[in-house]
Amino acid sequence: MNISIFGLGYVGAVSLACLARDGHRVVGVDVDAGKLELIASGRTPVVEEGMVELMSEVVRSGRVSVTQNAVAAVLESDISLVCVGTPSAPNGSQDQSAMVRLCHDLGAAMRQKSRPHVFVFRSTLVPGTVEDVLRPIIEAESGKKDGEHFHVCYQPEFLREGSSIKDYDKPPYTIVGANSPEAVAVLRQLFGHLPCELHATSVRSAEMVKYCCNNFHALKITFANETARLCGAMGVDPFEVMNLVCQDRQLNISPAYLKPGFAFGGSCLPKDLRATLYMAKQRDVDLPMHNGIIPSNRLHVERAVDMVLATGKRHVGLIGLSFKTGTDDLRESPMVTLAEQLIGKGLSLLVYDPDVHLSRLLGANKRFIEMHVPHIGSLLRAELASVVCDSYVLIAATTDKEALAQVRRLAQPHHRVIDLAHVPAAPDWPCEVQGLCW
Ligand SMILES: NC(=O)c1ccc[n+]([C@@H]2O[C@H](COP(=O)([O-])OP(=O)(O)OC[C@H]3O[C@@H](n4cnc5c(N)ncnc54)[C@H](O)[C@@H]3O)[C@@H](O)[C@H]2O)c1
Repeated sequence: MNISIFGLGYVGAVSLACLARDGHRVVGVDVDAGKLELIASGRTPVVEEGMVELMSEVVRSGRVSVTQNAVAAVLESDISLVCVGTPSAPNGSQDQSAMVRLCHDLGAAMRQKSRPHVFVFRSTLVPGTVEDVLRPIIEAESGKKDGEHFHVCYQPEFLREGSSIKDYDKPPYTIVGANSPEAVAVLRQLFGHLPCELHATSVRSAEMVKYCCNNFHALKITFANETARLCGAMGVDPFEVMNLVCQDRQLNISPAYLKPGFAFGGSCLPKDLRATLYMAKQRDVDLPMHNGIIPSNRLHVERAVDMVLATGKRHVGLIGLSFKTGTDDLRESPMVTLAEQLIGKGLSLLVYDPDVHLSRLLGANKRFIEMHVPHIGSLLRAELASVVCDSYVLIAATTDKEALAQVRRLAQPHHRVIDLAHVPAAPDWPCEVQGLCW
């Protein structure tokens, strides 16, 4: 393929070398003449394992050229990978000025080009940038339309400095955010040989995945480091602890607990987190990330309260009360906190939870609900139909698929459903459904 690459920093230079190695003709574009000179003479503009040999080899092959002329590069290629820098502005926002300037040139090139072209944005970009900022610039400058005369798409880059050639050859996956099958097909041609899955998704999701992955990496490092600080203060070996934590592939290093939903609660997580924070406080160890967990969890409950209040309706049915569907454990259930807050706001609440029978509650579980919602007995109904019938707002807080299907069957157009548990397919509902997480 004939490929143009814009921005010859870490991402662009490594991509240029690897694509040329794989037999493609690649033209590299940068505003920095020094980088272009280095590449033209077979040298690498970035220090990376294997790049010295690879750059010299691909430049000798004659498949690599460089230019400062963006328009010419688009005209002589079929696909452009855009890898220019998107650094932080002083206020923390993303500085997209290089990207925006470049897109004016890309659009000007498209005005002159009669053949179709695929623009693949690979720089990290705030969700919405490709569709709302960059595409309109290219369309305005070219007088042509995305999806007809050219295709824009977004493919996040996952390589890491220090191991970028290895990461290029073995990425965790290829994600293509595109609105047209043509763009996906071209990228499949280019990257389909890599030993990983290719996932096609929306442009915005692809943009967000990149942020989410980097934030998750930062979170993991911080978690390990905060744990190590606490371990140090407690005389525990943090390497041994983290090594064992990572051995659990069922609950720890796994998709478990990574699905958006309602707040956490129950008899263990809140109490153990509080104890951890207390251990740290006693030893003068600061754990800001751990400290932020409970306030963040509380915000999730507050958001649910705000959503109910925003409906303006006063008769509310809560479907699911225990902290986990299928149990009757009410201790620190976020649904109990939600119920308490809604009652406190003067709303009229009914509750349905087939697993919660007051007469069978014992010990700490019984004491908890008696302390937080003393008149729970008058709110609990044995029949789901009676809760639905006497409520305007229905809070779907159970993950029981059968109960949710029953709510959907019973709901009428006047109902408003607030989904805390990701109910299936909102369009099937006869009434408005709002999700806490969507
Ligand atoms: N560095 C990484 O490990 C990495 C990994 C994944 C994603 N990313 C993302 O990829 C993007 C590029 O990162 P990088 O580290 O390669 O950046 P970099 O700063 O090393 O390189 C960016 C290059 O873009 C060039 N440039 C600026 N304006 C230009 C223009 N109008 N036309 C052509 N070239 C222009 C600059 O001169 C520079 O050489 C960023 O959005 C970054 O967040 C980086």
